Amino acid sequence: AYTAEPFVPSGGGLPALREAAADCRGCPLHRDATQTVFGTGNPHARVMLIGEQPGDQEDRRGEPFVGPAGKLLDRALEEAGLNPADAYLTNAVKHFKFTRAEPHKRRIHKSPTRREATACGPWLAAELALVEPEIVVVLGATAGKALLGSSFRVTRVRGTVLEEEIHGRPERLVPTVHPSAVLRADDREAAYRGLVADLKVAAQALG
Ligand code: URA
Ligand code: SF4
Repeated sequence: AYTAEPFVPSGGGLPALREAAADCRGCPLHRDATQTVFGTGNPHARVMLIGEQPGDQEDRRGEPFVGPAGKLLDRALEEAGLNPADAYLTNAVKHFKFTRAEPHKRRIHKSPTRREATACGPWLAAELALVEPEIVVVLGATAGKALLGSSFRVTRVRGTVLEEEIHGRPERLVPTVHPSAVLRADDREAAYRGLVADLKVAAQALG
């Protein structure tokens, strides 16, 4: 089975993880992507946000949430009373998966499979163990299914505080929609309001 497990170092903290993740060959996604996009932010963050996978710009720059979805997320966090600079941002899958309609044409985002998300899980487990966030914000279905299983439905649990064991640790999680889904929504304003409302639940759960 695909797995990142043999690439994950047992000690050394987040810098060692990031360095090792750059050479991960745990699944085939490293082949076509530019680089590993590891988590970033406050290593002692009270809030960890987990997205799906890096997008086109993240793949080029090597940092999560630096493209349009990331800008929207930053704005929503501020509006919910959470400082983006105090958070830790990462993704369920650390390499960009894409297709091209034609050779040399624009790269089109493709959702990772469950096997790929499972393969990448050991990186997420290691990040959770080191950062020890008080609240995990789950952005969209891919992250939700990776953390909470295939029965996860965003619409059913968004904006609530779930208490679940994740990679052997008790976590408090607040699921919400993915910021990219807000950008694609017919009623963008309503979708954005919904995201902010869910993030406020996370902010309140911090106490
Ligand atoms: N979407 C994600 O899920 N993660 C990113 O880092 C950027 C866009
Ligand atoms: Fe490793 Fe994850 Fe990249 Fe696959 S997507 S090669 S498991 S870092």
